[in-house]
Amino acid sequence: VEETYIMVKPDGVQRGLVGEIISRFEKKGFKLTGLKLFQCPKELAEEHYKDLKSRPFFPKLINYITSGPVVCMAWEGVGVVASARKLIGSTDPLQAEPGTIRGDLAVQTGRNVVHGSDSPENGKREIGLWFKEGELCQWIPAQAPWLRE
Ligand code: GTP
Ligand code: MG
Repeated sequence: VEETYIMVKPDGVQRGLVGEIISRFEKKGFKLTGLKLFQCPKELAEEHYKDLKSRPFFPKLINYITSGPVVCMAWEGVGVVASARKLIGSTDPLQAEPGTIRGDLAVQTGRNVVHGSDSPENGKREIGLWFKEGELCQWIPAQAPWLRE
């Protein structure tokens, strides 16, 4: 099954947007399989964003992600990776469409409130990085037959 790693970044937690952000994915119809509040160590932030290591903003990005607790989530569903990216909106919140999380709730790339995996492979990789096996939960939501024929 396709899965994606979604994370409310420290600014989203500090601004009280956790419930709002979870709601967007919940209402869409995806299945939550992991959820925790977590203070990210520097090493994990660096591993998570390792593809951006050579970028000039990398140190700022690591400071940002480790600046306070984050909310880590695993979500599952057909097409969840691309759909979550659409719900989140463009990296730069000023370019993000209204109706998206970043379009509605943020103004700056360096404070864009939420992360979403960019491919199914990275979804699996990131869920493996941020969660331990026993922290994930497999279940069948009661609404399942009302979401898909
Ligand atoms: P994520 O879902 O967080 O991975 O964002 P993304 O996939 O939309 O963007 P990308 O993976 O290219 O960059 C990861 C994160 O680095 C962004 O979400 C921003 O928080 C941060 N970032 C990217 N570009 C810049 C930049 O030019 N300046 C600053 N300060 N931060 C940036
Ligand atoms: Mg990314």
